[in-house]
Amino acid sequence: MIRFLLNDTSMSLSAQDANQTVLSFLREQQKLTGTKEGCAAGDCGACTVVVAELSDSEQGLHYRSINSCIALMSSLHGKQLITVEHLKQGNTLHPVQQAMVDEHGSQCGFCTPGFVMSMFALYQQQQQAPAPINRHSVDYALSGNLCRCTGYRPIIDATLAACATPQSDQFARQRSATIAALNALRDDDDTLASSGLLLPVSREQLAQCIAAHPDAPLVAGSTDLSLEITQQHRRFETLISLSQIPALKQISIDSQRLRIGAACALSDIEKPLLTHFPQLQELFERFASLPVRNQATLGGNIANASPIGDMPPVMLALNATFVADNGNHILRLPANEFFTGYRQTTLSSGYWLSAIDIPLLSEQQRLAAFKVSKRTEDDISAVCAVFNVAVDNDGIVTDVATGFGGVAATPVSATALAEAITGKSLTDAQTLQAGKAALRSAFSPIDDVRATARYRNQLAENLWHRFWLQQQTSSTIETRVNYHA
Ligand code: FES
Ligand code: FES
Repeated sequence: MIRFLLNDTSMSLSAQDANQTVLSFLREQQKLTGTKEGCAAGDCGACTVVVAELSDSEQGLHYRSINSCIALMSSLHGKQLITVEHLKQGNTLHPVQQAMVDEHGSQCGFCTPGFVMSMFALYQQQQQAPAPINRHSVDYALSGNLCRCTGYRPIIDATLAACATPQSDQFARQRSATIAALNALRDDDDTLASSGLLLPVSREQLAQCIAAHPDAPLVAGSTDLSLEITQQHRRFETLISLSQIPALKQISIDSQRLRIGAACALSDIEKPLLTHFPQLQELFERFASLPVRNQATLGGNIANASPIGDMPPVMLALNATFVADNGNHILRLPANEFFTGYRQTTLSSGYWLSAIDIPLLSEQQRLAAFKVSKRTEDDISAVCAVFNVAVDNDGIVTDVATGFGGVAATPVSATALAEAITGKSLTDAQTLQAGKAALRSAFSPIDDVRATARYRNQLAENLWHRFWLQQQTSSTIETRVNYHA
């Protein structure tokens, strides 16, 4: 049973087609056609809706924009789904809608509901926790929305005008009632269905579901698996959702390592990850778009084992360990042994990823992450490269960990680079050349629409060169993202 609020109407859905997306539910079942379908792949933002959920303190609501075309119904359980139809009150437009009118932010209008919902999410966040708004924060909020005809300047102006000093709106006035309604949804615990879309709420229930449906895929944020449904027209009889298991969403830190629950959304890990690894900021902000990061999970990005995912190279370079569970046993799987072939891993049947352990950096470690893609935002890496090089007090390389995406059938480390530069002075020109020579033949990438194999190999060399250049001027490495390198 999936219980949620559709705008302010309480919904309980029992018989669930495992393949139904939130977008098809809205447009085909509810006839709420303000939410548009553009790409059906999480790339354009026409389908953007906002999901509100109880914040950790349960005193407020957390508003997130998501792409409804790649969200499955299970993701709504216990939440409020807000669509563009719900923003206007009587004949009065919501302030974000009025700002779009005032700033001439719409022409054909196809993208407009999606932009309005991304603006609305920012507006609500600003109401509850005001923060200075600037061009960067607006770009960040709108990073998942494309417009083909208006141009972005009026839309950005509208967002700045509406969200800089948000006024109390009907959502603020109804917040207490919404919180009470969401709490009431939690009172029922019969969320484990017998077929279709399964929603286990504990480790034990998850193990039961897997035992009963050993071939059913596990799904968390569904940003990748949904593409098989919407683009390849694949049908799943049963899916097992990881979205309702609190233990998979915990984040903890001690003096040695950061532990991130595998089902944490990427936007939820942003703050703890960047607090301890600020060098990852630009790479992280260019990982897909905000609506995708609001859905996609760290565990999903790792378990998918895509050769062009952006988190696996980071995990390789940070020497992460993946914690796997089957309800009875816990296994610890080193990242550098995890990826065994194209979308294949060492994760055994019956196991799921429960957490990711990331060792904290010592003062000797130099870290940098680079993403090269055709577009700045909302694009897939042609090459992603992460370097983590430890040096002693004399600047001699003592340890090297790297992660590369886009250069092989799996995310990979460059062991040849480690062999070539260990024991050498990091800032020495010969070390640069030794690293370049090692990377020149380290990988056998493919040609595809994003880049040629030759370009990818050249990038691997050039990004190492860039990392090396950074060491000449700073012992504290900054992240530099060079997307036209
Ligand atoms: Fe394009 Fe959903 S329809 S992101
Ligand atoms: Fe036409 Fe944006 S107004 S695509």
